Order: sequence, then C-alpha cells, then structure tokens
Amino acid sequence: MNNNAPVGVFDSGVGGLSVLAEIRQLLPNESLLYVADSAHVPYGEKSPEFIRQRCREIAQFLLSKGAKALVLACNTATVAGAADLRELYPHLPIVGMEPAVKPAAATTRSGVVGVLATTGTLKSAKFAALLDRFAADVRVITQPCPGLVEQIEAGDLTGPVTRALLERYVEPLLAEGCDTLILGCTHYPFIKPLLRELVPSNVSLIDTGGAVAKQLQRLLVECDLLAWPSDVKEQFWCSADPQKMQAVLPMLGVNDAKVLAF
Ligand code: DGL
Repeated sequence: MNNNAPVGVFDSGVGGLSVLAEIRQLLPNESLLYVADSAHVPYGEKSPEFIRQRCREIAQFLLSKGAKALVLACNTATVAGAADLRELYPHLPIVGMEPAVKPAAATTRSGVVGVLATTGTLKSAKFAALLDRFAADVRVITQPCPGLVEQIEAGDLTGPVTRALLERYVEPLLAEGCDTLILGCTHYPFIKPLLRELVPSNVSLIDTGGAVAKQLQRLLVECDLLAWPSDVKEQFWCSADPQKMQAVLPMLGVNDAKVLAF
C-alpha cells in the first residue's frame, strides 16, 4: 500500500466535514476522499441493516478509488456498520466514532451530562455499553434531535427554524442541571456558534472530531502508512444532487471544491 494513497471519509451527508476539517488540520499531508450519502440522509431514523448496507457500498467505492484507510465520520453509521466493515476488511485501518461520554463524565462538575445525538445512536446497544462503562457515577440525559440534521444539510446554521429546534432540544437538558453537552452527531459542530448563544457560558460543549483525527494518526503510524509531504488532493462525492451540496460547502468551511455524483 502506498503511503500517499488517500484516506476515505464518509457520512450520511455534510456532517462528516466537521471531522474532515480536524483531519486536515492534524494531518495536512493526507489526501482525502469524502462521500456524503445525501440521498439517504438522515441515517438517524433508518434501520441498522439499511445503514450497514450503505456503509458497505460506500466503503467499496472508496477502496476502488485507492483509499488506504477509512473514517466513518458519523456516530450513527459507526454503531450500525463499523464492526461489519472491520470483519470484511480485517487489514484495513478503520476509524469509527462514538459520543464523548468518557471525557464528559470525567469533567462534569454538576454530575449531569446531556447527550444530543440521533435516535439511531441513542437507542443502540453500543451506546448503552458506553454508558455502563464510563458513566456509572454521573446522570446522563439523552436527547434525540430529529430535524436538526436536515437544517444543517440545507445550510441553515443560524435561522429561526434551526434556533427554535435547538432551543426545544437544549432547554430540558439545562433545566435538569447539565453543565456538559455532548455533541454526539458530526453535523452538530456546525451549529456550535448558535448553541453557544443558547447555553450559559459555564456549560461545556464536547465533540469528538479531534479525537477521531488523533486515532487516525495513531493507526496510520502503527501501519506505517502516514503520507509523505506531496501534492495533497481532496475529492468530494454526493449521492444526491452534487450542485446542492456544492452550494452549501462554503458555509461549512470548504471552498473551491467540486462535488461529483456518487
Ligand atoms: N452525522 C451523523 C452522526 O454523526 C448522522 C446524521 C444523520 O444522518 O442522522 O450521527
């Protein structure tokens, strides 16, 4: 395997771009391929079987484009599909992600932690196991957020509909005394500025994009696959209308990208 082969990253839509930004920052020599499965967003309300199948198809595509490693830049896809992909490709470095329960439990002062995530993530056995393992001594309140992903997909990061939805989801958590909110979906870091306006300044917001980039770095080092300095490429595909995604990208920090049909 060539060290300068790209890393394949994917999500149900544009959310994984929040993870891509962290990877780009930590590993600037890596070329990146990104697939947004926008024809099937949101994953949060789909069955694990359906998502697992999508993960297989996207992984196959990214490997056909020469990916040397895969990042499931999606909490929902990770609970549904990461184990299956690891079984299918036992020698491939594969990074998944999970809500940041461990760091939140370690840092909360009030002892009450809120988790904003998709329905699929919150009702998974993997998430229940995460709570058993790391959150025995804190109270964790979970909040599914239907509708929020669609707003972010449409590039509405600050408008009244997004604000009203977020307010509705966050208020009960604050009322229960949460001092730490876990952003358990990769779309949500894009509405962090809005969220900051809605919660008191002593409430911490935690996401795992940075930790995922570090885990990717660890795996690439372990497999001797870190890229050498060279011309870095980024390529984007989308399973819905590429033009639509392209129009939203600048709002999400991606400029001059050409989105192709997946
Ligand atoms: N961005 C995804 C996650 O991290 C899923 C959003 C969705 O499609 O529901 O869970």
